[in-house]
Amino acid sequence: MSEYIEICGGVPLNGEVRVSGAKNAVLPMMIASLLTSEECEFENVPVLRDVSITAHLLESLGAQVEQVGDRIKVRVPSLNATEASYSLVKALRASFWVLGPLLARGRAARVALPGGDIIGARPVDIHLAGLARMGAEIQVKHGIVYAIAPRGLQAAKVDLRFPSVGATHQIMMAAALTPGETVITGAAREPEVSALAKMLCQMGSEIEGAGSSRIVVQGRESLDGAKVRMIGDRIEAATYLLAAAASDGKVRVSGFLPSDLGAFLDVLGEIGVDLEQGPDWLELRSTGELRAVHAATGPFPELATDIQVLLVAALSVARGESRVEENVFEGRFGYVAELCRMGAQIKVKERVACISGPAKLTGAPVEAMDIRGAAALVIAALAAEGISRIYEAHHLRRGYADLEGKFRALGARIGTKLVDPEDYAFTGC
Ligand code: UD1
Repeated sequence: MSEYIEICGGVPLNGEVRVSGAKNAVLPMMIASLLTSEECEFENVPVLRDVSITAHLLESLGAQVEQVGDRIKVRVPSLNATEASYSLVKALRASFWVLGPLLARGRAARVALPGGDIIGARPVDIHLAGLARMGAEIQVKHGIVYAIAPRGLQAAKVDLRFPSVGATHQIMMAAALTPGETVITGAAREPEVSALAKMLCQMGSEIEGAGSSRIVVQGRESLDGAKVRMIGDRIEAATYLLAAAASDGKVRVSGFLPSDLGAFLDVLGEIGVDLEQGPDWLELRSTGELRAVHAATGPFPELATDIQVLLVAALSVARGESRVEENVFEGRFGYVAELCRMGAQIKVKERVACISGPAKLTGAPVEAMDIRGAAALVIAALAAEGISRIYEAHHLRRGYADLEGKFRALGARIGTKLVDPEDYAFTGC
């Protein structure tokens, strides 16, 4: 039975919340376990559906996966398959990243194309061009990528036409298990790329320049295991900060590096809140009213596209005309129509959302379409007067560990209910 989230809004959030490990760092690292027969151990792993799906995918390829609390151990003694089916890749787009590791270790791979998505087309041409530069022979037929490297992949110079996060992960992983020097230019600079590079170095490859747009990988014939503590989730941090801002609250968010927020820190500096920063925390105090801003997304360190979605929700209660431009995914304003049902005044024209405020938000039944879109509705519902019901709440389970518990600890009136009214799990209002 599906569940929905019920929120009684209008309560200023107050207190401290610690973010979980970063989903977008866990997934590539778990996939990197395919590069070695030794054990890889991960700490501070969030309990999320995307993590379980990745574990399932790795098991289908020959991995032994052991999960206890926030620790996961993965060991792949040998690959027992080199195929990732459509059902797995469809459930989780990051599954496509197994292509490079399978090719590097098994010299062959068959991986379904991820296909379109609610936030945009999401092609994989940059991944395929990069692996082809490394000598892979690739054919795409019937929606499946068939790739072989009969003599193994070769170290190469790989230039990415756009700093795709996934393609950077993919090529870096493949290069780590390919003897010789691979140079990746036009690389993504996101903190999750640096985190993966650190793990690959622990496994025995040498990597320089992760975090810049030129990454040099000295690959090895074989790699060792690794023990990694996950970095904190910067997108989850942004979610709690913007919820505090929109609800007129005061919240300290800890367990992550504020510098990982990139240009979002500048945006926070402009929206009319007080900020205090520590080595692994950021505290936001509302000053009574948010101010409108102009912002544009882009590859790190520019404003993260995932944060755009959360920001627009918070800006709907800011005074003035905000303008937010989306430059990473062409279709990432799908959630706006639901925000407008709660009273937000937002007009989208091509890549730009114009937000007029402050809108008087009122609780409403709304439907989530993806992870961050769902979180945007939570932010708006916390700021709105009255009761909101957010349907298709399963999207939140993909990216937020214990979202209700964390918000409740900040004073929010939030609970999960099953769609059947006779049988509810929790009443928060
Ligand atoms: C990752 C994140 C996602 C985030 C995104 C951008 C994970 C699990 N997901 O997704 O949350 O929103 O980075 O920061 O880490 N592109 C191509 N061809 C390619 C690859 C990408 O045209 O071969 C385009 C995409 O369509 C998109 C842009 O490049 O317009 C960025 O995509 P990319 O950085 O690859 O996103 P993901 O790695 O899928």
